[in-house]
Amino acid sequence: MAIASTLSSSTSKLFSFASLSFRLRTLTTTARSARSNCSVASKKRKEKQEPRQRVVVKEKRRTRSDREFQSETIKRYGGTGNHIPVMLGEVLDVFPASKQLRYFVDCTVGAAGHYSAIIEGHPEMEVYIGLDVDPVALEKARARINSVLHDPNPSSPKAYTFLENFRYVKSLLCDVDEKLVETGIDGILMDLGMSSMQVNDPQRGFSVLANGPLDMRMDPQASLKAEDILNSWPDNEVGRILRDYGEESNWFSLQNRIVRARSQGGLHTTGDLVDLIKSATPLSREGRQGWIKTATRVFQALRIAVNDELKTLEDSLYASFDCLAPGGRLAVISFHSLEDRIVKQTFLDIINIKDRDVDVDMIEEAAGKQDLRKIMSGIDENEAWIKQTVQGLRGIILTKRPITPSETEESLNSRARSAKLRVIQKL
Ligand SMILES: C[S@@+](CC[C@H](N)C(=O)[O-])C[C@H]1O[C@@H](n2cnc3c(N)ncnc32)[C@H](O)[C@@H]1O
Repeated sequence: MAIASTLSSSTSKLFSFASLSFRLRTLTTTARSARSNCSVASKKRKEKQEPRQRVVVKEKRRTRSDREFQSETIKRYGGTGNHIPVMLGEVLDVFPASKQLRYFVDCTVGAAGHYSAIIEGHPEMEVYIGLDVDPVALEKARARINSVLHDPNPSSPKAYTFLENFRYVKSLLCDVDEKLVETGIDGILMDLGMSSMQVNDPQRGFSVLANGPLDMRMDPQASLKAEDILNSWPDNEVGRILRDYGEESNWFSLQNRIVRARSQGGLHTTGDLVDLIKSATPLSREGRQGWIKTATRVFQALRIAVNDELKTLEDSLYASFDCLAPGGRLAVISFHSLEDRIVKQTFLDIINIKDRDVDVDMIEEAAGKQDLRKIMSGIDENEAWIKQTVQGLRGIILTKRPITPSETEESLNSRARSAKLRVIQKL
């Protein structure tokens, strides 16, 4: 019995050892085959990505600014702290000293980096108007503008700054002086999105990496915060925002987790939201730091919704174009594809609108005789940055393809990497 039991125990040990070693072998084989499957999958993924990357690289090569990056100019107008105006040289090319600017509007004055450079470049300027919804930015801008206009005399330009959303640009110009809209503005600039000052202040809630309240308002007087959307908006609206404004493929799972979090007290800080995103992002997704990419998309989506950025942009592009004088230019720097798409499509829509005030026969006759581009818009031959244009009845798009920052600027300022500059000129 004892022998039998010993035998049976050693047999069972042998058996279990054999089964363990078999299992180990199976596991090793499975791991090996999983690894080889993984490498096949990653090879396939790379092969799939390569053409896309090639297209991106080719597109970048086509649109990259060939202007030399002037670090001295950036230092001079770099403004406060670590705020660096994006594509400053390219913006100065759009509003060159050779082109008269009597009236100029900066819709997003921020730390007044672009604004002060343009003021200094145009001593003929009569009226400058700067808008921003952020009182902190505006205060900094005012101090900076005063230092640029250090010699106020009767012939100095009138510089106005307003705590105002650029969606009201037209009515605001009428309030300042009706003549401004009648005569028209010579140059308008929109440098969209957040300033470094806003991103770097955790209390504003824009930063993925620093904990703060779930705020995300550009205008601190506005009533809607990111926290309100996350904790009280209908489930499908939360999902729509993540999908449409963040282009986030994992939107449905995130929507469900956000709604579930409500029963445990809701989300109140950017840290709460980041934790939720981390727990919802599989490790395999976009590498170890995949959650950061997801969080960036989710934060972008919420910021767009809180500030109603896309509708505001579209309406403001039409309104700003209306305010331009003949020959006046509207330049827009955008920072993500949703914004850029709106700028591109709205510009195309603007120039294709039939305008009763434009003498179509005259345009067609002129086009037959000479280069319409030069006749109608007085574009200077020396404006080498203008490569391909799109001509319409009311205006000319001076950037058929957007201009993107030079390689040097991209390497020095990571925020510039996604910037795209588009310009339209009124006929
Ligand atoms: C990228 S920063 C502009 C930086 C500025 N060009 C400079 O060189 O210092 C964008 C600014 O636009 C402001 N802003 C965003 N949306 C706005 C809107 N709808 N109306 C007015 N200002 C807005 C933000 O508050 C922020 O200060």
